Amino acid sequence: MNRRNFIRLAGGGTIAAASASTLVACGVVGSHYPAEAVEAWNGPVGETDVRRRAVAYAITAPNPHNLQPWLVDLRESDVITLRTDPERVLPHTDPLGRQILIGHGAFLELLVMALAQQGVASEVSMWPQGELPTALQEWDDRAVARITLKPGGQPDPSFAQVLRRHTPKSDFDTTRAVTPEVLTQLVSGAGAHAPLSTGGTVNADQLPALRTLCWESAKVELLTPRTMMESIHLTRVGPGEILQHRDGISLNSPFVRAVSALGMFDRSAPPAEGSAAYKSAMGRFEGHSRTAMGFVWITGPNTRSDQVRTGRLYVRQQLQATALGVGLHPMSQAVQEFAEMAPHFERVHQLVLGRPAPRSASDPTVQMFCRIGYPQGEVPATPRRPLARFVMA
Ligand SMILES: Cc1cc2nc3c(=O)[nH]c(=O)nc-3n(C[C@H](O)[C@H](O)[C@H](O)COP(=O)(O)O)c2cc1C
Repeated sequence: MNRRNFIRLAGGGTIAAASASTLVACGVVGSHYPAEAVEAWNGPVGETDVRRRAVAYAITAPNPHNLQPWLVDLRESDVITLRTDPERVLPHTDPLGRQILIGHGAFLELLVMALAQQGVASEVSMWPQGELPTALQEWDDRAVARITLKPGGQPDPSFAQVLRRHTPKSDFDTTRAVTPEVLTQLVSGAGAHAPLSTGGTVNADQLPALRTLCWESAKVELLTPRTMMESIHLTRVGPGEILQHRDGISLNSPFVRAVSALGMFDRSAPPAEGSAAYKSAMGRFEGHSRTAMGFVWITGPNTRSDQVRTGRLYVRQQLQATALGVGLHPMSQAVQEFAEMAPHFERVHQLVLGRPAPRSASDPTVQMFCRIGYPQGEVPATPRRPLARFVMA
């Protein structure tokens, strides 16, 4: 077999490279997401209502697995009530809903910024009906926050970065180091959110252990059937699925689409060891871990309010990263709270905080753990669902 004419699939199959390039030439295959799926990144085009305009910016917030777990109630005038969408949680990789609430914090921060940009101040009341319970199964529709609109509101210079912010889910350029000065601007430039702390490292002595932690913890998520299946169920392959869902993990590379089109990407079971899908998932995480040029973290206590606060701080860090032109990418596997991850959960606390994993909500907890570096190309915008899907009218 002429190896140059075939793309070898790890599961043992091959596809003709000629047919893949024909697909590309016909415009059938390209890695850009369909324009409609990423229209949120144009901002609130044609929207005149102040609250809906603010929500249009807030839905671009970073959030785990791009589930977009937010619902806003606009039925009371001059008030925005933020709730969690009960369908949009991650019981296997985020069994305590901690990451989902970080996503709510990011949404809340952008919402408040977008209101301020329009000359509106926000009075934020957290958990007006009390905090959500610890167990995800007991979550109900109580509000995460009630935002009352008031006259005032000072535009924030970071707002200019909101529609430019994208999470770089790709290998970083290993020929470009992140300097200690950039690290300092990243860690301290996002402002303070007591009682949370921020930290990070670009120290060559510390990086190998942290990269190894990323890779070892990623393997646990990928090789634990129920956590892997959680991601597979949220994987959207190709323009059709991406447009249909506009959420989850969007894969649009010609290779993955060709594998899927040939029926070689079975989504009913975890990918078999050695298969194309297995190698593709493993390769992605291995590359992300290996090319981490530094790390940044957010730590602090772990009440429900601290989780939301973490999200507010995290999105500010990402806006700061966008302004600095550096990539900031969460590597959340080691901080996930499912049983199989426990050794890595312990290790991330030892490496970052020099202390054991938390035993209670008041113990110091690693809330966000991210790699940093310079992306090798333009970072694409990730899909968002239409604005109307988030609004309870
Ligand atoms: C709490 C939290 C955890 C996240 N963990 C990961 C992660 O482990 N791996 C990853 O690739 N992205 C992670 N992300 C980033 C999301 O995947 C990303 O925000 C989402 O896909 C939307 O993309 P965008 O940020 O470019 O708009 C995380 C984001 C948040 C808020």
